Amino acid sequence: TEREPVLILMFGATGDLACRKLYPALFELYKKNHEFAVIGLARRQHTHESYRSMIDRTLDQNSEQRRDFLERFYYQPLDVGQPYHFALLKNIAEQIDTKYNLHGNRIFYLSLAPRFFGSAAENLKKAGITETQGWKRAVIEKPFGHDLASAKELNEQLLRVFDESEVYRIDHYLGKEMVQNIEALRFANPIFESIWDHRHIANVQITLSETLGVGDRASYYDQTGALLDMVQNHILQLLILTAMEPPSRFDTEDIRQEKVKVLKAIRTMSRDTIANELIRAQYKAGVMPDGTRITGYHNENNIDTDSKTETFVAARFFVDNYRWSGVPFYIRTGKRMAAKSTEIVIQFKDITQNPFFCQLHKAGPNLLVIHIQPDEGLSLKLNVKEFGEAGDTIPISMNFSNHHDSKSSTPDAYERLIGDCLRGDSTNFTRWDEVAYSWTLTDSIVAAWNDIPLDYYEAGTMGPSSSDELLARDGFCWWPLTKME
Ligand code: BG6
Repeated sequence: TEREPVLILMFGATGDLACRKLYPALFELYKKNHEFAVIGLARRQHTHESYRSMIDRTLDQNSEQRRDFLERFYYQPLDVGQPYHFALLKNIAEQIDTKYNLHGNRIFYLSLAPRFFGSAAENLKKAGITETQGWKRAVIEKPFGHDLASAKELNEQLLRVFDESEVYRIDHYLGKEMVQNIEALRFANPIFESIWDHRHIANVQITLSETLGVGDRASYYDQTGALLDMVQNHILQLLILTAMEPPSRFDTEDIRQEKVKVLKAIRTMSRDTIANELIRAQYKAGVMPDGTRITGYHNENNIDTDSKTETFVAARFFVDNYRWSGVPFYIRTGKRMAAKSTEIVIQFKDITQNPFFCQLHKAGPNLLVIHIQPDEGLSLKLNVKEFGEAGDTIPISMNFSNHHDSKSSTPDAYERLIGDCLRGDSTNFTRWDEVAYSWTLTDSIVAAWNDIPLDYYEAGTMGPSSSDELLARDGFCWWPLTKME
């Protein structure tokens, strides 16, 4: 796939995501010689100049290339429900296309609330903006619906204008360095792949904990909750990458095909089983590790005092296929937990069959930990004999970590993903059937979980004790989060 010049139509141009992530990512891509011009679109009034100053404030002020970069940004006030605005947009798009010789290639970046996707797509089509001589692509942000039915509806609206191969659904976890590294770790290392199954792995633990609360997104979050905000997308993606079969070829469709197979194999939950498989909880007042006092979720601004929205979910999933038969995949995610951390722990089966080594009490199971953030790297826990004559067996940790001095050495997730979209590589975006199956699974949970009570945990902890019991029943425990040296 080649780099080609492109016009980016940025819907939601004055929004929080655009300012925090998209403009800085585009700037990095510009410095790496990607060629593009941008039309910013939003309801707010801006001139080209005031739009450029707004973007400038989001950029690294030390870079000299800012001026040239900003000159490629134009602004057009637009209400997605006004066909007339799209007629104006068509003219501007054509002028900029000609000015920069962009060959009619267009990316429609819909950083909008999903309820606007339908009219945006329809009006783009009616105005003829999506009919160009070049290629077109649409980038879509989450949430992609709130259940299978609403996701289908959104999808139909998009597919009236774009082909599935032109739709890039972002899950920004797929742009993170160590998430992209899972495939290499598994499939380029026979020592791991040969033991990556139910015969050798006791369980898998996926933690995605956050210290932040809901901030100024209260109204979105209170209607969404941790299951839909984090499990339906990011957590399931991490589980899929850990569990998938090696694709026969490393091309986009083969990889996506294998990912979908894992989703289809995850056991759905029912009212009879859910109480044993899932915990949902909300944080109450507590103290964060840095001493900050936190008020309970239902006392936060703009949250109903009797809100039953979960800010934490822990669950036990099973992937019902030959490789993973009987292996629990434990997951947990929550707000206002003790640490901001994402990691995957693979716990290998222990050595209880070997009486000699069992006497050596200090030996623990082999663990492979994939550190996704804030540390990026791997650690492997092994047992060795302590040096010295009567050395005990002790656990040691072999670490590989990416010590980067400056942020620029690991491209931000958005920079990678937008870069992929500019090149036309959709491997790290979710395909429609992937989204559909993940909704089928989360819908099964939502339909069943009204019968299980909402639990509570203190802010600043790793969740309620019921989350520990979920593993204790199987004879396991959550491994403490580790910091890499
Ligand atoms: C988003 C969720 O998708 O991911 C947020 O909507 C969450 O609630 C965020 O805070 C976490 O992303 P990251 O990259 O900071 O781990």
